[in-house]
Amino acid sequence: MTTAKIRKISQIVQGINTSDGAGVKLKRILGSPELGQLDPFLLLDEFKNDNPDDYAAGFPDHPHRGFETVTYMMAGSFTHRDSKGHEGHLSAGSVQWMTAGRGIIHSEMPEQSDGLAWGYQLWLNLPAKWKMTEPKYQDLPSEKLPVVEEKGVRVKVLAGEYGGVRSPGKSFIPFTYLEVRLEPGAVLAQPAPPDQNAFVYVIEGKAETGPESEPGYVKAGHLGVFGEGGSVRLEAGDEKPVHLLFASALKLNEPVVRGGPFVMNTLGELKQAFYDYQTGKLG
Ligand code: FE2
Repeated sequence: MTTAKIRKISQIVQGINTSDGAGVKLKRILGSPELGQLDPFLLLDEFKNDNPDDYAAGFPDHPHRGFETVTYMMAGSFTHRDSKGHEGHLSAGSVQWMTAGRGIIHSEMPEQSDGLAWGYQLWLNLPAKWKMTEPKYQDLPSEKLPVVEEKGVRVKVLAGEYGGVRSPGKSFIPFTYLEVRLEPGAVLAQPAPPDQNAFVYVIEGKAETGPESEPGYVKAGHLGVFGEGGSVRLEAGDEKPVHLLFASALKLNEPVVRGGPFVMNTLGELKQAFYDYQTGKLG
């Protein structure tokens, strides 16, 4: 249990329904007009479709530069292929972590045989000094991701650490990403140092957070941004279990210039990314 100041929720956003790739319907929770970014988080998309027409065309070949994508599948599966020769099959419960670095072209295609395609893609910015790093791919199957279960708390450690248990995922900056299930009355206490930004996205149920004397609530389908402090407290907000995603990561405090699939620090670097892609030098 940590004694650091418990963070309160400073903002709640709902996200917008949109589509991306070749017409995949999704909800953009972070990276929308409501909340453009939460340094270093650039985007959080939820795709949850049971009609193949809404996702089957997938995300054909497209480029990225300057950041990382971390995709967590809840149900269904995707196949990833990229210009560096990586190929991965994401089944339910697995994480695909792609460092675009100086440039990669990839496709993310859902498996047609599955009725439900449900997952989350998070974009994590890279610090200026690593934006042009060599592209990298980490395939983290469900069985390699540790799960901690105690006193009504079930935590799957997608990235970083919970209760001394670490994910095998390797990050460039301090980054924690947890899938959490809490029974009513169970408490999750997690450090979130002051130099990090943190958020909770509630998948199902209602989350209670903040100091016990001044609780705040985040409902299903909403993202809560944590304000200043050094730790977070999460509990079920009513008599039902709550299912959520928690993330925190180091603030980069660097300029962000983004255009489509590229995220750089200056306009010149962004123009260079488009030029490199158009002239076949990216990926
Ligand atoms: Fe992509």
